[in-house]
Amino acid sequence: MKIFIDTANIDEIKEAFSWGIVDGITTNPSLIKKAIEYYKEKGNDISMEDYIKELLTTAGEGHPVSLEVIGDTEEEMYREGKLLFDKFNGVSKNVVIKIPVNPETSENGTHQFDGLKTIKKLSSEGIPVNCTLIMSPVQALLAAKAGARYVSPFAGRIDDYLRSQNNIPFKKGDYYPADGFIINENILQDHGIISGVHLVKSIVDIFKNYHFKTEVLAASIRNATQVREIAEVGADIATIPFHVLKEMIYHYKTSEGMKKFENDTVEEYREIFK
Ligand code: E4P
Repeated sequence: MKIFIDTANIDEIKEAFSWGIVDGITTNPSLIKKAIEYYKEKGNDISMEDYIKELLTTAGEGHPVSLEVIGDTEEEMYREGKLLFDKFNGVSKNVVIKIPVNPETSENGTHQFDGLKTIKKLSSEGIPVNCTLIMSPVQALLAAKAGARYVSPFAGRIDDYLRSQNNIPFKKGDYYPADGFIINENILQDHGIISGVHLVKSIVDIFKNYHFKTEVLAASIRNATQVREIAEVGADIATIPFHVLKEMIYHYKTSEGMKKFENDTVEEYREIFK
């Protein structure tokens, strides 16, 4: 499984890349807002263009960086996708354009299919697309049919949705069981999907059935346990927040074992390293 870092914070990105385990970056307008606020608070003046270029060079060629459009019509999203690609792909040849599967904010809007149309157009021009805000397996199927290089199912937000629809209080990082949450003998579900991990698994299974080349990029990940479960169901990629990457490395028994090895090291053995 490839690991992407889910942040636009350049300090976090640089540190995570220095660990040698990061294969790419995903950003979205909310992550860029957070990063810009962080730098402004530190008193830094930021040119957005230079900032994006730094993200791209830090990742380097072969490490995809998703940049999201902000429009909600086919015309706007296509123009913005082309603009982002033409302006920035020359830097490190790693730009991926993020397009929402459905840019409409209501059920009856007239632009429900503009995401798919944009994916089709950009993909047929050779521009790689990461289709975002995937909340159901059938949305992922449509995005793959339209030619998306990646689909991003939002595992954590599905877990949030299942809990909030059923008035279950939770905090953002809280674990949600991959095999579902039972209340009064009923399993919580959304059109048969019982957890964010189940959403990812369903998409992995569908793509396998039909040999789609589209990669499943599990997103909206909330904790290290969810990373394990996403890896178990065979996601191609997980995009992981910096704090969750840090959570993944620690285990109490590893630290305890390390202390014991340090205490047990005899002088004769230490001499070898001098
Ligand atoms: C990444 O591609 C997504 O935009 C991101 O994972 C969303 O995460 P969130 O649900 O924690 O905002």
